[in-house]
Parts: sequence; structure tokens; C-alpha cells
Amino acid sequence: MSELLGTAVITGASSGIGAVYADRLAQRGYDLVLVARSADKLAEVAGRISAKTGRKVDVLPADLGDAADLARVEAFLRETPDITLLVNNAGLGGALKLVDSDIDQMTSLITLNVTALTRLTYAIVPQFIARGAGTIVNIASIVAINPEALNGVYGGSKAFVLAFSQNLWHELADTGVTVQVVLPGATATDFWAIAGVPVEHLPSEIVMRSEDLVDAALVALDRGEFVTIPPLQDGTLFDTYEAARQAMIGKLSTATPAPRYRKAA
Ligand SMILES: NC(=O)c1ccc[n+]([C@@H]2O[C@H](COP(=O)([O-])OP(=O)(O)OC[C@H]3O[C@@H](n4cnc5c(N)ncnc54)[C@H](OP(=O)(O)O)[C@@H]3O)[C@@H](O)[C@H]2O)c1
Repeated sequence: MSELLGTAVITGASSGIGAVYADRLAQRGYDLVLVARSADKLAEVAGRISAKTGRKVDVLPADLGDAADLARVEAFLRETPDITLLVNNAGLGGALKLVDSDIDQMTSLITLNVTALTRLTYAIVPQFIARGAGTIVNIASIVAINPEALNGVYGGSKAFVLAFSQNLWHELADTGVTVQVVLPGATATDFWAIAGVPVEHLPSEIVMRSEDLVDAALVALDRGEFVTIPPLQDGTLFDTYEAARQAMIGKLSTATPAPRYRKAA
């Protein structure tokens, strides 16, 4: 193990954003454990990164949509003492409308994007709290705040990731545990082809390179930012949005309905 930084576990590390996180975190000095279904792709990523950086890179092939495999990864997180960082990145997308999409596929999406991310977080947080240190990076999406953009179940799953992370950040504030939630916009990975829309069909000016996305998210992590939206050029727009939300807090539960809900005389 890296004496200084410990081990980072990255889900969905066989391609795209997760593989770039693996590369960048190893370059920073983390040892790695890479999780995804494709054992051959994981081995290729692990071999390339360990040759380049000299770090220890292990693979843990698992289908996080499968209850038994997920339980195996949870047990690994609970029982491995040197894990210092978890990147919950594995995720499925969807671009089809409700009437065109298959409910069983949508259910699988919820299992991966919501259930797996939640269970892995539950598996690692007690250890981080006990140690007074540790970092959780959850990969959401801009559809968390723009669920009208793609498939609604996908948007809903990422709104869950944002809300769950907001609660974690709040709840773990005084524990020494760091939480970051990253909201990528369109990023050039296999995600789009799997979701049914090849990335080449999108206007190039709205598509970010996965390397740029991860490098920006790591700059934000170093600065202690909680909600990170690399494509949002004017960060004050999010600050205004968040200030409006904060202004409602404390006013959202009252004994009487607001006057505007009174029946007309
Ligand atoms: N690309 C974008 O435009 C974009 C935008 C916003 C947010 N995101 C989010 O970014 C994250 C990474 O996506 P990406 O763009 O890098 O796409 P990607 O290249 O398709 O990567 C997805 C990763 O998840 C793994 N994965 C998929 N199903 C899995 C399962 N059942 N169990 C374990 N691993 C599984 C895949 O590996 P295997 O196939 O080997 O299992 C792969 O490593 C996702 O959460 C996605 O929602 C992407």
C-alpha cells in the first residue's frame, strides 16, 4: 500500500471516466482497486497504469447489478483497512423517452446507479468515520438538476445521487470524512453509444474529454469543493441556485397551508 495516500477503489474503472480517475489517482500516488464487469478490460487498464506509475493496481471484477457480486464488493470494502478513497462512478445512462424504453432495463439502471452506489457507501462510511478520515466521490450528472434532458429514470437516479451526497456531506461534516459529488455534462465515453445515442451525434462544443472532466474534478476536490460541475462556466449560477434552496430551508414545514392554497371565497 502507498504509505501516504492508501488505496483508492474506483467502480466502473474499465473505461471512460473511471479509467481516467484510475490513471490520475495512481499518478498522485494511490494504490488502486478497480471494479467493473469486464475482467479483460480491467486487466488491461491495471497493467497499463501500474507499468506507468509503479503503483499496486488490483482488479475486482464484479457485476454491481448482481446482488451476490455487490455483496462481495461490500464485504471487501468493510474488511480492507487501507482504503482511503471510494469513487462511485459505475453507472448506466438512458436517452429514450418513457414510452420507448424498457422497464426492466430501467430497473437495472436504478439497481446500478442508486442501489449499488448506496450499498457501497454504507459499506465504507463506518470505517472512514472510525478513522476520522476518508474520501467519497460520487459521480452524478447534470441531469440531476436538468432531468428534462434525457431519460427520466436516468435523471431521477442522478438526482438521487446528488440528494444522497448532500445529506452525506451534511451528516459527515464534523467527522473528517470528505464528500464530493461531480456533475459531468456530456463527456466523450462509451456511455452514449450504450445509451443509444453515439457521442458523434452531439454538437462537439457541448462534449468534454473525459481527461479534462476528471482533471477539473480533482482540482475541485483539492480545493474542498462539494458540488462540482466542470462544464458550468459561470459558477455563480449554481451559487444563486443553491442560495435559493437554502433560503427555503426552515420554511418548508408549517402547521397551516400557505394562503395561496385557500379555496376561493
Ligand atoms: N459520459 C457522459 O456524458 C456522462 C455524463 C454525466 C455523467 N456520467 C456518469 O459517469 C459515470 C461513468 O460513465 P462513463 O461516461 O465513463 O461511461 P462508460 O465508459 O460506459 O463507463 C461505465 C463504466 O461502468 C461499468 N459498469 C457498467 N455496468 C456495470 C455493472 N453492472 N457493474 C459494474 N460495473 C459496471 C463499465 O464497465 P463494464 O462494462 O466492464 O462493467 C464501465 O467501466 C456514470 O455514472 C455516468 O452516469 C457520464
